[in-house]
Amino acid sequence: MGTTVTPLRLTIIGAGYLGLTHAVCMADLGHEVLALDVDEQKITRAGAGETPFFEPGLEPLLRKNLDAGRLRFTTSFAEAGEFGEVHFLCVGTPQADGGAADLSYLNAAAGALAPYLATPCLIVGKSTVPVGTARALLDQIRTAAPAGTGVGLAWNPEFLREGYAIQDSLAPDRFVFGVTADAAAGLLRRIYAKPLAAGIPALVMDLETAELVKVSANAFLATKISFINVMAEACEAAGADVVQLAEALGHDERIGPRFLKPGLGFGGGCLPKDIRAFRATAADLGVTSLASLLGTVDTINFGRRTRVTTMTREAVGGSLAGKRIAVLGAAFKPNSDDVRDSPSLDVCGRLSAEGAVVSVHDPVAMPNAARSRPDLRYAASVSEAAEGADLVLHLTEWADYQAIDPAALATVVARRAIIDARCTLDASQWRAAGWSVRVLGRP
Ligand SMILES: NC(=O)c1ccc[n+]([C@@H]2O[C@H](COP(=O)([O-])OP(=O)(O)OC[C@H]3O[C@@H](n4cnc5c(N)ncnc54)[C@H](O)[C@@H]3O)[C@@H](O)[C@H]2O)c1
Repeated sequence: MGTTVTPLRLTIIGAGYLGLTHAVCMADLGHEVLALDVDEQKITRAGAGETPFFEPGLEPLLRKNLDAGRLRFTTSFAEAGEFGEVHFLCVGTPQADGGAADLSYLNAAAGALAPYLATPCLIVGKSTVPVGTARALLDQIRTAAPAGTGVGLAWNPEFLREGYAIQDSLAPDRFVFGVTADAAAGLLRRIYAKPLAAGIPALVMDLETAELVKVSANAFLATKISFINVMAEACEAAGADVVQLAEALGHDERIGPRFLKPGLGFGGGCLPKDIRAFRATAADLGVTSLASLLGTVDTINFGRRTRVTTMTREAVGGSLAGKRIAVLGAAFKPNSDDVRDSPSLDVCGRLSAEGAVVSVHDPVAMPNAARSRPDLRYAASVSEAAEGADLVLHLTEWADYQAIDPAALATVVARRAIIDARCTLDASQWRAAGWSVRVLGRP
């Protein structure tokens, strides 16, 4: 028997990666949704059924809900204030100078919305924030809202992964509801009635704990990645094989195989900035051991980029000047066109700065990569990127690259040499086709 959803009027403030996905998913649950962004172009495109980023399945779901009349877009805070029974804050919280989170977008959004909150409502924060932000925001909103309006605030952090955004929004491992009153938890239960009925747990807690759950989840995942990457260094030093090591560790149920993939490390718009912001918070709170742990995780992660740059230099004879390097992958991870803090583009930039001619291919991220690093060359196909290359670098583990025929690619390169910085290619197949193959952390 299906769950009956009593539709609520929801506004989503900030229609970027998180906000647009959330708006579409909430409309798909049956709610009436009005999404707002200050970027007019984004709003126009979304209203026309276009997503401004690559996310499997999101565009058809956006169109379906636009057609059903459950989803609209606006740039007007007055319209949003009047419309919403619940307002979700989904704006960006990027890294400020010094590593702490920049909360200016969040403060601006709350400040712009508050004067229009004429009827009782709940504000729900979804952005990733330092602990203490929610309570400060509630004070700010209550001061700026019309006198007498009952405004509540909850924090419902988002755990979605780019590439799996719909699945993660509608069927996450758990919902986290940070609240100050039972009524807020009740409203959140109504919003998420369908997934909750399907058995997804909702954990209700105070605001501070909810804020910390999100950043500590990211800190744990980043630590797991950096752990296996120092193990890769240990394997290289000892002549051992980190891929076999990771597989054996992953079979231990206490450890598990996920986020235990050795390679070039993490990047993207979330993990790096979130662990730096958490590090800054930990220092502010006087929790120096946490600040030091997170600093080490970040340093290990950056070290992987240096290591690949060094290996590349060595593999072409000690100097990169004039050497042609073909790079496979520009996105920070596969199934995404996001190049924010992309480890691949960082390495490309380092190689280019030493005089290498870098030709990059990516199945979907090239337009974003070209905007972010216009100094690099971009190739429409793997073989075009590899034309005349002295070395091929595998930097983002798209499934397409595992299907490359090494014998065919051998016919276009100047030298059959490849470095697999993501440890996912079948090295024996490449070697059989005459390639010299180096894999991070493997003999
Ligand atoms: N992208 C992810 O995978 C992900 C996952 C979980 C959590 N988060 C968190 O979600 C938040 C948003 O991240 P994102 O990736 O969606 O960022 P984003 O940059 O894609 O989107 C942010 C949006 O907010 C809009 N905005 C900025 N100021 C505004 C204002 N005053 N009023 C209305 N809109 C405004 C921007 O125009 C932009 O469209 C961050 O805190 C991030 O850490 C992101």
